[in-house]
Amino acid sequence: MTATLTARRPRADTRRSPSTKRRSRDRWRTAATSDIHDLYERSVQDPAVECEFIDQAWKERRGRLARSIREDFCGTAAMSVGWVKHRSTHVAYGVDLDESVLAWGRARLPRRLTPAQRRRLTLIRGDVRSVRTPSVDCVVAFNFSYFIFKTRGELREYYQRVRRALVADGLFILDAYGGSESFTEMEEERHLDGFTYVWDQHHFNPVTHHVINHIHFRFPDGTQIKKAFTYDWRLWTLPELRELLLEAGFKAVTVYWEGTDEKTGEGNGEWAPTTRGEDCPGWLAYLVAEK
Ligand SMILES: C[S@@+](CC[C@H](N)C(=O)[O-])C[C@H]1O[C@@H](n2cnc3c(N)ncnc32)[C@H](O)[C@@H]1O
Repeated sequence: MTATLTARRPRADTRRSPSTKRRSRDRWRTAATSDIHDLYERSVQDPAVECEFIDQAWKERRGRLARSIREDFCGTAAMSVGWVKHRSTHVAYGVDLDESVLAWGRARLPRRLTPAQRRRLTLIRGDVRSVRTPSVDCVVAFNFSYFIFKTRGELREYYQRVRRALVADGLFILDAYGGSESFTEMEEERHLDGFTYVWDQHHFNPVTHHVINHIHFRFPDGTQIKKAFTYDWRLWTLPELRELLLEAGFKAVTVYWEGTDEKTGEGNGEWAPTTRGEDCPGWLAYLVAEK
């Protein structure tokens, strides 16, 4: 994949033309009338795509499909909501430390889910390092949230907790980003439906791989929401992550790399297991760790 750095996953539907109804409403998006959680979901989440990848990984690694997931660092729980909608047998537990973001997600459940779907979703205020849930087929940690753990010891301990939460043939699926531009202090803009999403790699320390990243939102009327979200992370590399997952007791760890669209040179949304990636300015990858 030779895409320029998109450190956050673009929503697949940003490539489609918005409907006329949406266009006329979105012209009026401003900082004052926007909600940062809504903008976040529109900018960097696509639960349907994540559900497809989970299905693919389960078919390829286990020859069956997963039924239950635990979504760590769930935020508004968009992924968990997507999972219980994906199949009528699906169950999801969403875990986040922050009650305010969980409350935002909870308040929207009646609009997003039917009563039967809601019964299959549990949102838990808790720390992913200590939360207890019934054993699940699959734990997912998306949009790099586990980069919050900055030492090998902390990250290994989290991975050990995840492993214990899984059924005997469970999978842990997480994502990572990297590439030469991930080591650069820079801003990248994407123009979405009625607003601009800005990924600001504000600080990078090559000695520690400590990064500070912000998300800002800008609007057509010139208003903006600066530092809507801030991430104080360690930018982990794929070999470090694979080693720590194995040290935590996972039996195998597979990296899935995205294919390239020959016309655009961008990622094509098709993921394949590999031991050899491409040296490109920006990439996203999934890791699939087998218990
Ligand atoms: C970047 S958001 C992730 C949102 C969503 N999962 C996604 O894929 O975009 C990170 C979330 O992690 C939560 N968080 C941070 N540390 C945590 C911890 N130790 N346990 C549970 N949640 C935590 C924060 O409250 C925040 O809502």
